[in-house]
Amino acid sequence: MFGMLKGLIPTGGRGTRLRPFTFSTNKHLIPIANKPLVFYPIEALAKAGIKDIGIVTNDTRPEIEKVLGTGKQWGVNFTYIDQPYPGGLAHVIQVSEKFLKGSRFVFHLGDNLFTEGIGEPLARFVKTKANALAPYLHHKDNRRLGVPYFNTKGKLMKYVEKPANPPHDLAVPGLYFFDHNVFKCFSGRDKITPSKRGELEIGSVYQWLMEHGYYVETYEIDGWWRDPGQLCDITEANRLVMEQKAEFIIQSPLIKKSKLIGKVGVGKGSKIYNSVIEGPVLIGDNVEIAKSYIGPYTSIYHNCKIKEAKIENSVIMEGTIIEKVKRRIDQSFIGKEVTITGKNRNHRLIISDLSEVHL
Ligand code: G1P
Repeated sequence: MFGMLKGLIPTGGRGTRLRPFTFSTNKHLIPIANKPLVFYPIEALAKAGIKDIGIVTNDTRPEIEKVLGTGKQWGVNFTYIDQPYPGGLAHVIQVSEKFLKGSRFVFHLGDNLFTEGIGEPLARFVKTKANALAPYLHHKDNRRLGVPYFNTKGKLMKYVEKPANPPHDLAVPGLYFFDHNVFKCFSGRDKITPSKRGELEIGSVYQWLMEHGYYVETYEIDGWWRDPGQLCDITEANRLVMEQKAEFIIQSPLIKKSKLIGKVGVGKGSKIYNSVIEGPVLIGDNVEIAKSYIGPYTSIYHNCKIKEAKIENSVIMEGTIIEKVKRRIDQSFIGKEVTITGKNRNHRLIISDLSEVHL
């Protein structure tokens, strides 16, 4: 559809708000409804017909490249671009100049999720031939986001990153559209400069384009949007995706003496015995579940073992073992290769920095 447009997805960043998980996992690879988070932006660009996608990485490249590959699985072609240091979102664009080579492009943050995809704002960008487009939506917590300011005629006048007192509840999510003029903001006497947090901000780019007479269009987005930047957003995003987008396929015949209720997906080689699985639930590959209850909005990633436990509304990452836990595990986000057992009389805890335990 929009074949000549290119796509750009950043997968670096520090992931500080998602610690301790991001000590060992790139936030873009955290599973949401049993799929790495960054798969959603890739699918959105592929669905909009974009074939050439730049994946921007820093020292995370080996891990990201191993999971994403060449793009073939989505029918697209990835070019890996190195961002030598986390210099902000505008810096991501700056380091991608060679790849973007004068094309119009869509910049979709690798940790943002849009249920309705990106088709509508993209069509508006193409139709209006604007130099840039900033989508916006309602968000009650817009003090932690980019905020658009409009004049009385509804024209965009200002774009401020994380303002202390926004005049309304509108925010610009992590989806941006530009043409080649964007690169002009990086040179010359009035080039954009790093903000207080030491980053080249995306808002400064829009601001520069507006101040230099370029045509910046806006578009109000429908549907829900999430940037699971904080821990509480992970289980919430998981629930929303399971409700609206996830596919539930049973790929294993090894389900015995168990009751599956509602939408349940089970991956290859997984075994389920003497259990009740009440969907929506997603179970990855080679998972073993015995004598357990798995309740709605739970996703359990590959190679986990769950025995004699009750879990609901939770996200469980790869290779985790949960055994003989009497009380229900609810609203939890559990990392990779964690062991939780209820066999001891006392609590015996080996927990790394910045973890949370609510007993
Ligand atoms: C970044 C952008 C912000 C945008 C947000 C969306 O924020 O700077 O304008 O609204 O992504 O996810 P950050 O994640 O750097 O706080």
